Amino acid sequence: NEWSHDTPVIPSAPMTEVTIRVNEETTTRDIEPRTLLVTYLRDELDLTGTHIGCDTTSCGACTVHLDGDAVKSCTVLAVQADGGEVTTIEGLRPTDGMDFHVVQQGFHECHGLQCGYCTPGMIMASVSLLEENNDPSEQEIREALEGNLCRCTGYQMIVDSVRWAAEHSPTS
Ligand code: FES
Ligand code: FES
Repeated sequence: NEWSHDTPVIPSAPMTEVTIRVNEETTTRDIEPRTLLVTYLRDELDLTGTHIGCDTTSCGACTVHLDGDAVKSCTVLAVQADGGEVTTIEGLRPTDGMDFHVVQQGFHECHGLQCGYCTPGMIMASVSLLEENNDPSEQEIREALEGNLCRCTGYQMIVDSVRWAAEHSPTS
């Protein structure tokens, strides 16, 4: 029939404008409404420190802070973050007297990573934990990082890293 040789035309989605403050800079982009926050960060802003490790909301490699809370950025639409404030691993600043943010320093000191794939998400989740509880027990750390998977370290060194950060944090 007359349609058989036509390439199907998929209507392009209407674009929508979002404005998100990311690492203390205002960003505005026209995006498809279905764009995930993680895609916005990685593809629109080139902030590739936020990783994608699964497509099932289970690994936590994509963890960032949205309005002060740790979220899995693959489960949030960029439009949901419109008007919000996001911090990614690139936005962490060195703690006074250290080369890195105290949590990054802890992972460095205690060898809390091997391949590093899970690390940005682990660190962002840990920063969030320490903001709520500056002296977490090993058990509390394990519970707080339950949503973050690591297939290399066996977790003990990650827990040690977070304990190190708690002990060396200026607020503790
Ligand atoms: Fe978001 Fe795995 S990429 S939870
Ligand atoms: Fe490789 Fe955690 S260090 S996945």
